Amino acid sequence: MSEMQNIQWFPGHMTKTKRQIQASLKLVDAVAEIIDARIPVSSRNPDLDKLIQNKPRVILMNKCDMANRTATKMWIDHYAKQGVTALAIDCKSGRNLNRFPAAVDTVMRERIERLKAKGMKNPTMRIMIVGIPNVGKSSFINKIAKQNRAKVEDRPGVTRGNQWFTISKNLEMLDTPGVLWPRFDDKTVGEHLAFTGAVKDQVVDIELLAVRLLDFLKKLKPQEFVARFKLDDAELCADSYDLLKIIGKKRGMLVSGGEIDTERAAIMLLDEFRAAKLGCITDEMPNGELR
Ligand code: G4P
Repeated sequence: MSEMQNIQWFPGHMTKTKRQIQASLKLVDAVAEIIDARIPVSSRNPDLDKLIQNKPRVILMNKCDMANRTATKMWIDHYAKQGVTALAIDCKSGRNLNRFPAAVDTVMRERIERLKAKGMKNPTMRIMIVGIPNVGKSSFINKIAKQNRAKVEDRPGVTRGNQWFTISKNLEMLDTPGVLWPRFDDKTVGEHLAFTGAVKDQVVDIELLAVRLLDFLKKLKPQEFVARFKLDDAELCADSYDLLKIIGKKRGMLVSGGEIDTERAAIMLLDEFRAAKLGCITDEMPNGELR
């Protein structure tokens, strides 16, 4: 269950979170920022650059099993052009998790070389995981921890209770992730977070959200979506609320009197989108376009 379902990002809470992350940052040499590969823009924290300052960073595009493969590749190339190392991962199957140490090594190389030049033989690097709620931070840490049973004992100067996992020869990872807040002054970001289920459904109007999702799906026309609801061209051109009714009717979602249960249809549509049954879809592209 994602933290967003019970955390309200009020200013006091943000200040406390910021302080906690700043304290943890002092213990590490680098940061792995987990984002949701389906929404690479909306799933990033707007203040991370300021928070981590010059610390090396790896971007982990998680949930790539549910994102569009071509789009993920375009994003990785886009980050590479900016000199940022990114890796597409999937914490459900564990895909590419074994490439994580090498990715960290790439971003740490300069620092390691500098330490070696100063006479340090095999410097151990430490990293922490950060990201907004629901991107898969716990899943990532659990998977990595399972693969790397050996824990490093608490060490002097490190807050009591911090656990470190040795994840490769000279790399350790903090077991507690930094939970960041998403951008919440942008309606589109809010919508994309809600589409993927990162925002609690009780705080959004579910039918309105389904209508907005249909606006988006009508433009993109993913094959799986069209085939799943057997939609013809006329139906794809219908007003999105009418399309929600069409979909509800096709699924036999009726209430007494023959009316269509649009709320049930909306819940079903969002559930299927979130489970990638309407296609592996990336909502946001590097060129700023919506897909
Ligand atoms: P968080 O710590 O960043 O808040 O995220 P968390 O690991 O709790 O993951 C949030 C949800 O995303 C979980 O689903 C988790 O299983 C799912 N998830 C994480 N990584 C991946 C991935 O790479 N691919 C897919 N398809 N899903 C992923 P949940 O429904 O909240 O819980 P559950 O169904 O796993 O019990």
